[in-house]
Amino acid sequence: MILPFAESYKIKMVEPIRRSTPKEREAWIREAGYNLFNLRSDQVFIDLLTDSGTGAMSDRQWSALMLGDESYAGASSYFKMKEAVREITGFEYFLPTHQGRAAENVLFSVLFKEGHIIPGNAHFDTTKGHIEYRKAFAVDCTIDEAYDTTLYHPFKGNINLAKLEEVLSSNPKEKIPAIIVTVTCNTSGGQPVSMENLRHTYALAQKYSIPVIFDSARFAENAYFIKEREKGYENHSIREIVREMFSYADMMTMSSKKDAIVNMGGFIAMRSEDIFRQASVFNIMFEGYITYGGMSGRDMNALAQGLYEGTEYDYLNTRIGQVGYLGTKLKSFGVPVQEPFGGHAIFVDAKKFLPHIPVEEFQAQTLAVELYIEGGVRGVEIGTILADRDPVTRENRYPRLEFLRLAIPRRVYTNNHMDYVAVALGNVFARREQITQGFRIVYEAPIMRHFTVKLERA
Ligand code: F0G
Repeated sequence: MILPFAESYKIKMVEPIRRSTPKEREAWIREAGYNLFNLRSDQVFIDLLTDSGTGAMSDRQWSALMLGDESYAGASSYFKMKEAVREITGFEYFLPTHQGRAAENVLFSVLFKEGHIIPGNAHFDTTKGHIEYRKAFAVDCTIDEAYDTTLYHPFKGNINLAKLEEVLSSNPKEKIPAIIVTVTCNTSGGQPVSMENLRHTYALAQKYSIPVIFDSARFAENAYFIKEREKGYENHSIREIVREMFSYADMMTMSSKKDAIVNMGGFIAMRSEDIFRQASVFNIMFEGYITYGGMSGRDMNALAQGLYEGTEYDYLNTRIGQVGYLGTKLKSFGVPVQEPFGGHAIFVDAKKFLPHIPVEEFQAQTLAVELYIEGGVRGVEIGTILADRDPVTRENRYPRLEFLRLAIPRRVYTNNHMDYVAVALGNVFARREQITQGFRIVYEAPIMRHFTVKLERA
């Protein structure tokens, strides 16, 4: 017999989690204003809110922590991280930041001004938030295939090059300070971008002399998909693929809370010394001195180690295999999900799941609340609430897709937990016709409302 799959690690420390009853959860979610961010973690049995900062560090990362150098300037931990960033990405210059959005804040402070246009595949919400906060505009040029959840396309994070060229050719060069490519593309369902698409995007950018930034939070998962799905890469190592990917970018922002498997941390990296110098000023202003930028020495050590572990094939195979395991189970219950399955999460198609709930009543949020009440499983809405209002008209933006995202923390849950999640959502699917009521907003913040929104039943 062929030996079956088994995880590429074993467990050395555990954290108890507690079950609760649907009745308790009904009361808790009502008190939370039907916003799952407002729940206390002990009110959650299986937490799939995010894969960001929720991973389990390895024994080697915990050991690295003990060797952290907390010197204000020039700490050995900084040089360890700088070396890891250089080795993995090829970028010579780098600045640590406390997380991904801080990286965006520092880099965008150098590059983006009012009236600018920043095209790319679908921008993540903090990225878009930092663009729109500067009164600039994010233009989504993702391929149309990404918006048909049942259509198989191996690289649904790809940029439509014709759409991109249309934006580049119809605007003066000074208006477009950069193109942002998010790898993998969280917003379109944790979907990868092919090497071919990265190469062509970069060539187009060079034709118009516009720099390319990678939003790199899940760059290693993207590389894994290239190895698995793109012809010519099957025999390349993940590290080789990663190096080639970054050769098609001029700069990167990184939320290390994802593919560097740490609980906190981020960075920016680039080839240009000039941009590094300019960004250093903002880093000192917003984050901290350039050799720690909002991170402690021990965290930089763990991050450096995490960059190496996060780009190992066996780890990625285990991680993405588990996401696929959940997706396959859900499909067997008939639950409509984005296919192919993403790298970090399963994206449930709420429009197909609850077609009888009007979009104005937030289908994906309704589904998230139902799943929580059913099984104590916390997912997150990636739909109308997250999409915010149009900054100019202040009208609700209705995205083409309404997703309930089930993001899987790295190295945290077993496949038994995935079975539990699948049955809980399968049960909701079986009683979906009895769910007839969505939600209305009673409080929302002017920007990035989904974190603090309060709702009531419509
Ligand atoms: N870019 C992408 C693609 C992201 O998914 C995130 C965060 C960020 C940037 C910002 O990084 O959180 O470290 O400030 N995504 C998390 C999520 C929050 O749940 O998907 P951050």
